[in-house]
Amino acid sequence: MSIVIAIDGPSGSGKSTLSRRLARHYGLQYLDTGSTYRAATIWALRSGLDLEDREAVAEATRAMPLEVVTDPEGPRYVLDGEDITEQLHTGEVSNVVSKVAVNLAVRAELKRLQREIIENCRELGGVVAEGRDVTTVVAPDADVRLLLIAAPEERLARRAVDRHGVADAETMEATKHEVLDRDASDATVSQFMEAPDGVYTLDNSKMVPDESFAAGVAIVERILHG
Ligand code: DC
Repeated sequence: MSIVIAIDGPSGSGKSTLSRRLARHYGLQYLDTGSTYRAATIWALRSGLDLEDREAVAEATRAMPLEVVTDPEGPRYVLDGEDITEQLHTGEVSNVVSKVAVNLAVRAELKRLQREIIENCRELGGVVAEGRDVTTVVAPDADVRLLLIAAPEERLARRAVDRHGVADAETMEATKHEVLDRDASDATVSQFMEAPDGVYTLDNSKMVPDESFAAGVAIVERILHG
């Protein structure tokens, strides 16, 4: 018996925190699909490619030697033998990853990779997979599909605290590009603000992480056990 839980949502909705906690709670593996886009960005930059050169970036992605460790206690991304986990969320990558994420040929390749990882995880009991198009494109047949949303100003404040330790006018402004502009760009290639049929929506705007987790568990229990 294996379980696949798919979680979508925009930046700052708390997807990663909720997904990792659910994975630990249910003894499942954990896949952050956004990190595969970030790894492809690092690989293209290291290969000296212009990120606007769609064909070259897609070709590099197809040849990318990426190993993904799906342990929720310590997910890791190893690129060409080097652990790049700590480099994935640097500003250098965050500022340009959307250029790679809107490349449809890259998306096709990463979808293939993500599905392969999810299938491998099934043998280990299952997985919580998170990311923009996971409930709709990557794993539309997941046992549980959840769309996590939060009000834009709330998402901006959370990201500002993550990045700068405080959410004031200055740090919110500095974070705007990362959250709102990137969502707008990502929205051109995947739909992650409205839930299609069969996808539960959880709005955690007014919830602290513990409440969001409890609400997530309640939804999973209802779906799996009626
Ligand atoms: O969730 P994140 O910020 O790590 O995602 C990095 C980038 O990849 C961001 O531009 C959204 C995009 N992405 C995507 O298009 N599809 C996914 N399944 C996951 C992420």
